[in-house]
Amino acid sequence: MAIISIANHKGGTGKTSMCLGIGVYFARNGYKVLIIDMDPQGHIAPGLGIDIGYDDPSMADVISLKKGISDIIIKTNIDGLYIAPATIRLNYVSETLYNTFQRERRLKKALADLIQDHLYDVILIDCSPSMGPLVENALTVSDYCLIPCEPSSRSIDGLADFMHRVNEIREGELDNKWFIVLSRVKKAAKLTNEVIDEKLSEFTNRIIETKVFERETVNQAQIAGVTVFDFPRAGDVIDNYTKLGAEISKKCGIKKHSSKKKKDK
Ligand SMILES: Nc1ncnc2c1ncn2[C@@H]1O[C@H](COP(=O)(O)OP(=O)(O)OP(=O)(O)O)[C@@H](O)[C@H]1O
Ligand SMILES: [Mg+2]
Repeated sequence: MAIISIANHKGGTGKTSMCLGIGVYFARNGYKVLIIDMDPQGHIAPGLGIDIGYDDPSMADVISLKKGISDIIIKTNIDGLYIAPATIRLNYVSETLYNTFQRERRLKKALADLIQDHLYDVILIDCSPSMGPLVENALTVSDYCLIPCEPSSRSIDGLADFMHRVNEIREGELDNKWFIVLSRVKKAAKLTNEVIDEKLSEFTNRIIETKVFERETVNQAQIAGVTVFDFPRAGDVIDNYTKLGAEISKKCGIKKHSSKKKKDK
């Protein structure tokens, strides 16, 4: 099983869209997938057309130790895809964590049984655009970290700060296990793209070759409350996420062998 955080302290870089895109890719290719929403904005459930009310069971209950993760996991209507949703309530729980002993280990403890029983092939964690306790929790339990990054000078410059924080949290354990994914790349912005490629050359081996291109259909699918895989005229976006998913699968060594005997919730 591979646990992958999709994180960047910068907002709007395409974390959630990428999480949904590759999550659906893996599920459609026969992997058993859990997406954990660690962002109080709670965009994962609506991205799959699922309504979650403020008081419904969610990650806030797990992080505040009121429920186990299996009590809140929802089976989606995509075969093999499960989610642990979040709502804004997670924000209030996050604020209570600041002075708590081992505050960064709550998610790791909550996932211990899932990991031991190998219930999923891949767990994707959608992170909030911050460096606070929720991101600490996600990174503490992760085997890999994907960092969606927009092709702008400021985004690339901000990467060093984020990587510094990742290294602080994991004391170097994720050293060779983080990857930058260029996202929301505008094909027409040739000059910018060249400058960005040059700037990124210092991160050799850490760059995922497949770039995610800016496509209006991503927004339209979001408005319609479906993933791009279920949206008409999204063929090129589907191809894009398919290529990305396949590359990530190789880089992170994701294999299909979750326990089939365990009962689906
Ligand atoms: N490849 C893309 N093409 C076009 N629009 C995109 C693409 N990826 C994301 N977007 C749009 O950009 C906005 C931000 O995307 P998304 O929510 O995935 O980013 P995020 O990093 O999760 O944001 P936040 O930091 O707020 O959690 C959304 O409106 C989304 O539809
Ligand atoms: Mg997001």
